[in-house]
Amino acid sequence: MTQPKRVAITGAAGQICYSMLFRIAAGDIYGPNQPVILHLLEITPALGLLEAVKMELDDCAFPLLADVVVTDDPKVALNGVDAALFVGAKPRGPGMERSDLITDNGKIFSALGAVLNEVGSPECKVCVVGNPANTNAFILKANAPNINPRNITALTRLDHNRAISQLAGKTDALVSDINRMVIWGNHSTTQVPDISYASIGDKAAKDCVDSDWALNDFIPTVAKRGAAVINARGSSSAASAANGVIDHMASWIQGTPDGDWVSMAVPSDGSYGIEEGLIYSFPVTCKDGDYTIITDLEVSDVIKEKMIASQTELQDEKNTVAHLLPS
Ligand code: NAD
Ligand code: LMR
Repeated sequence: MTQPKRVAITGAAGQICYSMLFRIAAGDIYGPNQPVILHLLEITPALGLLEAVKMELDDCAFPLLADVVVTDDPKVALNGVDAALFVGAKPRGPGMERSDLITDNGKIFSALGAVLNEVGSPECKVCVVGNPANTNAFILKANAPNINPRNITALTRLDHNRAISQLAGKTDALVSDINRMVIWGNHSTTQVPDISYASIGDKAAKDCVDSDWALNDFIPTVAKRGAAVINARGSSSAASAANGVIDHMASWIQGTPDGDWVSMAVPSDGSYGIEEGLIYSFPVTCKDGDYTIITDLEVSDVIKEKMIASQTELQDEKNTVAHLLPS
């Protein structure tokens, strides 16, 4: 029998995980031939609720679900896992920015980074979801030097999917006809959704919409979509976030189709002049369980200016959490 892959998930009794765990157990990350073992982590007061989630996972009798570990001990949850999805963190409410969560959430990621460093497999694939996701991933990376830094990523796939959906709606196209969307930067309102390279079927997207829409409607709509969901729902996106995490991990592990790419927030390698090491969203292709940043795109001055503003925000966030970064 194929050896199961172990996936740790923090905040496993929360909103996002209730939409996500069942899909991972059904094979949506590792594919239909790969058994998985879920390592579910919660804070102690939420363990009762997490037991209920485990009951429901059991009751689905998923053929690929080899075991479920329920724990409040991060050392048990993160021990030797193949992938770790860091969801557990406070969500924002109406009127807040994601960066307002840094003080409460940043320390979760320094503590869990130190545990991952101690018990994690060096090649563990990490996706940070808890907000502010890029800077939390940066904190985690700084506290986990034994883990391959390339493998510490944050979620901007939800933004990427939002951008595709907005462009499809505007042009009356099928989502499946749209390729090569880009999200640059931070998972925040400074993110830069960019249609410059996108295609819709055999047409260039920029020839199908006017440039005023692309700059002054599309970009802010995508960048502020999280807040729009909070205003409509009273709490932050959950099912679409779960879907974004599944897409992010499935692309990374199973690869991207020829001729397309996805957006992932990964440690910058200095491409496009972005400070090395910052967790910044780039277009990437994935193959054989690894990703490659697309490095040769020509960026217009107006997009470049926005990319730099997003970098500046990440540099400011990095300064705010300096006390959580071991020197
Ligand atoms: P939620 O409040 O429903 O669930 C969070 C869970 O995390 C809770 O059950 C809580 O007990 C648990 N938790 C808190 N601290 C923990 C710790 N130290 N270890 C383990 N578990 C812990 O929130 P949610 O709606 O699931 O959102 C979770 C996070 O994801 C929030 O920060 C939210 O802002 C963020 N988010 C990010 C994106 C993105 O695209 N990056 C999208 C949506 C939400
Ligand atoms: C989102 O983009 O939906 C999440 O980051 C939640 C939020 O706070 O907006």
